[in-house]
Amino acid sequence: MKHKILVTGGTGYIGSHTAVELQNAGYEVIIIDNLSNSNESVINGIEKITGIRPIFEKLDCNDKDGVEKLFSEHPGIKGIIHFAASKAVGESVQKPLLYYRNNLLSLINLLELMPRFNVEAFVFSSSCTVYGQPDVLPVTENAPVKPALSPYGNTKQICEEIIRDTVYSGTPIKSILLRYFNPIGAHPSAEIGELPLGVPQNLIPFVTQTAAGIRKELSVFGNDYNTPDGSCIRDYINVVDLAKAHVIAVSRMLDEKMKNPVEIFNLGTGRGLSVLEIIRTFQEVTGMKVPYKIVGRREGDIEKVWADPEFANKELGWTAEESVADTLLSAWKWQQRIVSQG
Ligand code: UD1
Repeated sequence: MKHKILVTGGTGYIGSHTAVELQNAGYEVIIIDNLSNSNESVINGIEKITGIRPIFEKLDCNDKDGVEKLFSEHPGIKGIIHFAASKAVGESVQKPLLYYRNNLLSLINLLELMPRFNVEAFVFSSSCTVYGQPDVLPVTENAPVKPALSPYGNTKQICEEIIRDTVYSGTPIKSILLRYFNPIGAHPSAEIGELPLGVPQNLIPFVTQTAAGIRKELSVFGNDYNTPDGSCIRDYINVVDLAKAHVIAVSRMLDEKMKNPVEIFNLGTGRGLSVLEIIRTFQEVTGMKVPYKIVGRREGDIEKVWADPEFANKELGWTAEESVADTLLSAWKWQQRIVSQG
């Protein structure tokens, strides 16, 4: 049995896929989640895929006493992958203090507790949002961090700084910051996937719900951008590929292969696709119609961003492998699964 890893936010979208890959790689997984944006039944999905039921506790990382108790009850945790955070850009503009409290305090609690329980490895869920609209594309890890466009984006930037300052203050903590581009798709088994509450804010769940007839039509936010077809461009990465990068990051830390105590990696494919290309590809691979209309731009949207993943490819020996066609198909399979389960 390999080491014990604590996954915060482990019943969420990326967290659950990462828990699967960690268990597949032999790690013992302990999940905590406050279930504010996910469901405990996700644990069943993880068990179905891997044959192992991870330890789960409903716990909020802002509850420092609770997290301390968890560390005491599960001695020997070697690393943390910290997903637990609020992540809706629009909501963060309405409720900035909620975002600052949730995202910053939970991080501070974990970092304060780590040395007391000899936990040294910390993987942080960051985002390409820290680059804003980059001046040069594809964007490398050396691109400047631009002023955040939302409190959500700002929390990611501040969290990165808090981690950096803490690591370089002489604690034994080391950290890998993973800057995700746009994670999409679901596990090929369709046992786990993205479960948005209410009206989806992100593109792919809206596309799949529209194809399923739950939404009348998709609004495409703007066709007057400076891109070949006028719609925004993003780097859509398969969520299982993304999850695998976390396993590599954890073992890189535990096997003492890091070159610096804080390392940053872009996790993307290197390929930019427009909103209209996504709709077209989805329709082609699924045979489903996605009615859509062009509406005005969404406030705060970036025109175009895609990753230069070369550093992650070389240093982590990791590459995003899944095609966007298969990834969209997995999202559709998952949508059908949700519908069939009511
Ligand atoms: C943003 C953030 C990302 C964050 C994520 C969380 C950036 C660059 N990215 O992703 O860091 O983790 O939010 O939610 O800041 N679209 C439509 N119609 C829709 C929904 C979306 O046309 O109904 C378009 C958007 O305008 C955008 C693309 O689809 O061009 C992707 O949007 P979305 O899935 O919301 O992700 P981002 O905004 O890129």
